Formats: sequence, structure tokens, C-alpha cells
Amino acid sequence: MPIPEKDKSFYRYTKDHRFAAMYPLLAREIIDKYGLTEGTCLDIGTGSAALAIELSKISDLEIIALDAEPEAIEMAGENCARHGVPDGRIRLVTAPVEKLPMPDGSADLILSRGSIPFWKDLASAFREIFRVLTPGGQAMVGCGFSHLQTLADVKAMRPVWSPEVLADRTRWKKGDLVAEALRQAAVGTYHIADDDYGTWVEISKPGRE
Ligand SMILES: C[S@@+](CC[C@H](N)C(=O)[O-])C[C@H]1O[C@@H](n2cnc3c(N)ncnc32)[C@H](O)[C@@H]1O
Repeated sequence: MPIPEKDKSFYRYTKDHRFAAMYPLLAREIIDKYGLTEGTCLDIGTGSAALAIELSKISDLEIIALDAEPEAIEMAGENCARHGVPDGRIRLVTAPVEKLPMPDGSADLILSRGSIPFWKDLASAFREIFRVLTPGGQAMVGCGFSHLQTLADVKAMRPVWSPEVLADRTRWKKGDLVAEALRQAAVGTYHIADDDYGTWVEISKPGRE
């Protein structure tokens, strides 16, 4: 589905983007949390590729920025150029999370911010993420901001949704939908982190003995 004109500013990663101050901090937090500065990182539902771009600035990770929407990937390419990311530094891929075009065990770090509310089939998505993770790899999937921001900054940034949109965007967090999808996907090693900054499903794939 093409990106509606009214939503296009969200896909343009400029200094005026409403989350512009957050992406560099989230990238820093992720690098510090997982201690990974090389290997392969897959960002699912990358949108503008803002997080991927910030990760590319502070690490040697080989980054794949993936989105189901071709227009998002086109705009992600424009954002890479806008931020001076060298050609090829971030690989841009159009594909859905439910069918990742990557070999088994090929990504050390899988990230996805703000995309899970739109996934139609959570179990297939988690199965694919777990398949593509390297043994010993980590995934962080969810919605939220960076703990390196103040809560006041987060509050100011947080979008204000109508009750209908709020219900739609938070449905994935309700009841045991995520736990059930992870069970169906045979993902046994996970933790759900939920606080005032956001909700993240953190998956770790056991390493080879
Ligand atoms: C709210 S945007 C988040 C973009 C970006 N991760 C960020 O934090 O700014 C959600 C993105 O998820 C993508 N998306 C939705 N469903 C998807 C799916 N099944 N597979 C891959 N990407 C998907 C959308 O095209 C959109 O670009």
C-alpha cells in the first residue's frame, strides 16, 4: 500500500523528524546493551531507516534495513544519501517480516522498532526472526523510546492517538498474544520488558555448545 501523503514526513529522516533526537540515543543504548559493534544487524520495518543510519555511524555492523513497503525503502535510500551514508553501507531490502529473504543463522542482531503493531501474523514473524538469528544472537522487537532520554522528553515526543488508533496500535500487547505467538514459533528464550519507555520482546537464541 503506498504511503499516504500525510504520513510521508515520518519517512523523511531530517532534523525536523519528530523522533530525530531519539534515534541516535536508541542506537547508542542498543550498542551498549548488547556490546555488538560488528557482525550483521537486521532492522525490520525500518521505515525511514533512521535507526539503521544511526547504528551505521557508531558501529562496524553490516546493516540490512528491511521493510515490506517499497516506497519506505525508496525513501530510506534517500535518507541514507541525506545523512552521507556511503553507498552499500546499509543494504536496503523490500520484504515482509513473515518471509525474510535471508539464510538461517545469518543475523547477529535483529531489531524492530514500531513495526510489530502492523504485523498480521505474529507467530510467522517470530519464527522467521528466530530462524534468521545466529546461535548466540539477540533480537529486540517492540515499540518505545530510549532510556538515554528523560521521561519528560519521551512524554513530549509520544504521539497522541485517538482511542481507536491507540487500541489498534497496542492490541499486540494485550493478553497473551505475544506469549502465544512465541510458543507457536517455538521460541523459548525470551523476555518481555515493559516500562514507561516502551515494550520490547527480547529474544536470545541459544549458542552452539
Ligand atoms: C511506524 S513505522 C516504524 C519505522 C521505523 N522502524 C521507526 O522506528 O521509525 C512501521 C514500519 O513497519 C513496516 N511494516 C509493516 N508491516 C510490516 C511487515 N509485515 N514486514 C515488514 N515491515 C512492515 C511499515 O511499512 C513501516 O515502515
